[in-house]
Amino acid sequence: MSTLAVPSQDRTRAGDPVRLRRTFGAFATGVTVVTVGGDAPRGMTANSFTSVSLDPPLILVCVGKDAVMHRGLARSETFSVSVLGAGQEGVARHFADRSRPMGAGQFDAVGRLEGLVCDAPLIPGAAAHFECEKWREYDGGDHTIYLGEVLRAEDLPGRGALLFHRGRLRDLAPEPPGAAV
Ligand SMILES: Cc1cc2nc3c(=O)[nH]c(=O)nc-3n(C[C@H](O)[C@H](O)[C@H](O)COP(=O)(O)O)c2cc1C
Repeated sequence: MSTLAVPSQDRTRAGDPVRLRRTFGAFATGVTVVTVGGDAPRGMTANSFTSVSLDPPLILVCVGKDAVMHRGLARSETFSVSVLGAGQEGVARHFADRSRPMGAGQFDAVGRLEGLVCDAPLIPGAAAHFECEKWREYDGGDHTIYLGEVLRAEDLPGRGALLFHRGRLRDLAPEPPGAAV
């Protein structure tokens, strides 16, 4: 194993954070947009989404403590998650761009659907939507781990998936009907 020549204050016990982030990227994930509603609606691209439990129905997402979205989630009782489909790389890039407009205007570029049970916007063209009530939150180092109880789930099959692997976004084409295992 090689030793990296970086100053000690830039290293953790796992080594150089830049290299660690690259290694985390070996784990391929889907891509979501987490949203909150209210007076200052916001969306944020997140690949940390995980399904957690069926009973109760729980999902989680990890949000950086320095994100504007972190403040939005801290003051919101509910949030939604849109799972992006194939062809939605532009949407993922938009909601990861810190220079996007604040408030409702940030949805103008991609459109928005109204939630049925929560006030958080949903992303048109997504492969699935989850509308959630905030259930618990846990300290996760430089992120907060938000668990949401799913109040409504909507599956929109046939839209494929947007994948994130080693820093690249790629489309997974929709499968023809009947191909699932
Ligand atoms: C594919 C992808 C996945 C991301 N996943 C996360 C994530 O899970 N949690 C997070 O806090 N930021 C994640 N980010 C970074 C945020 O989307 C980005 O920093 C965003 O601008 C932060 O939100 P803010 O603009 O509200 O501050 C991801 C970015 C990309 C491109």
